[in-house]
Amino acid sequence: MTPEQGRALFPVLERIAYLNAGTFGPLARPTADAVRRRLDADLERGRVGKEYFEQMLELRTSVRAAVAALVGAGPEHVSLTASTTDGCNIVLAGLELGEEDEILITGEEHFGLTGPVFASGARVVVAAAEPEAILAAVTPRTRLLALSQVLWTSGRVLPVRELRETTGLPILVDGAQSVGAIPVDATGLDFVTVSGQKWLCGPDATGALVVADPERLRVARPSYFSQSEHDPSGSFEPTAGAARFDPGWIPPGSLAGLLTALELPPDWRFERAAAQAQRCREQLAPLVEVLPGEATLVAFRADDPTALVARLAEADVAVREIPDTGLVRVSCGWWTSDEDLDRLVAAIED
Ligand SMILES: Cc1ncc(COP(=O)(O)O)c(C=O)c1O
Repeated sequence: MTPEQGRALFPVLERIAYLNAGTFGPLARPTADAVRRRLDADLERGRVGKEYFEQMLELRTSVRAAVAALVGAGPEHVSLTASTTDGCNIVLAGLELGEEDEILITGEEHFGLTGPVFASGARVVVAAAEPEAILAAVTPRTRLLALSQVLWTSGRVLPVRELRETTGLPILVDGAQSVGAIPVDATGLDFVTVSGQKWLCGPDATGALVVADPERLRVARPSYFSQSEHDPSGSFEPTAGAARFDPGWIPPGSLAGLLTALELPPDWRFERAAAQAQRCREQLAPLVEVLPGEATLVAFRADDPTALVARLAEADVAVREIPDTGLVRVSCGWWTSDEDLDRLVAAIED
């Protein structure tokens, strides 16, 4: 697949310089077709019978395997979820931390992580988003590091594996801005969240949670798929592996769409996305103050970010503002062309 052929999969790219995959990735035509085909089948054949049920289970198995392959984990370590937020909630609810326990986060985490962390009831310690500051904030009460691998504000990468190894503490890695954007290896990380709708360009309300040791996390929100056996009291034998954290009925169309989206990207995806992000930084540098960052998000300062984002939208350039920071954020994917970046620069200069 050439970059041109890759772009042609995404109809929206014909019209919009789509630089907002950090929020929602563009949808590829094959992904939308897969959703539609599945829905049509349900419409015509009904949502009944052994075949329907088996197909749905097969889709779950295939998505689990595809996510596992993406992050270098075994499928038995992957739970399906609806989002990164969902994954964080599964972990925090399952860990059962109390007010004596501390969870260490940075000051640049998204609510998708901080919301579940705060709701856990544990004491939340906030460190600056620097490895030394994070290490300095560890205390004997720290029970969990909860950190983004790629900060949503700036695109900076935190050395999550090194932090895990240095502290010996369990880590919840918010992978919303890393999985699908940069190479991610979940080996040695306790929990890694995946958002399906962002860099993976999957349907909305899709995602996954990678759990290194599923047996050690309590199933706090059981669904029908959480149990392999249960009795009338509700007590149950958990399903083997991380599938025990799966939600109930995920729309089969969403599963089919996510599976297609996971299979689409070319093997040059990460290289190309990194190169386009670097190109974006270099092109913006003479015009605006660009924040340091290594991943596929590029953030820069603007006097009036709201007005600038609106003005760029009028020029069909899709970027976003990071609220309360004075920052505008550009997301560069493997589908981003030089022309997209030229259009961004031209619209800023206009
Ligand atoms: C770092 C980070 N974490 C979590 C989220 C929330 O992701 P989701 O919508 O998949 O829960 C986002 C979304 O922008 C994010 O950037």
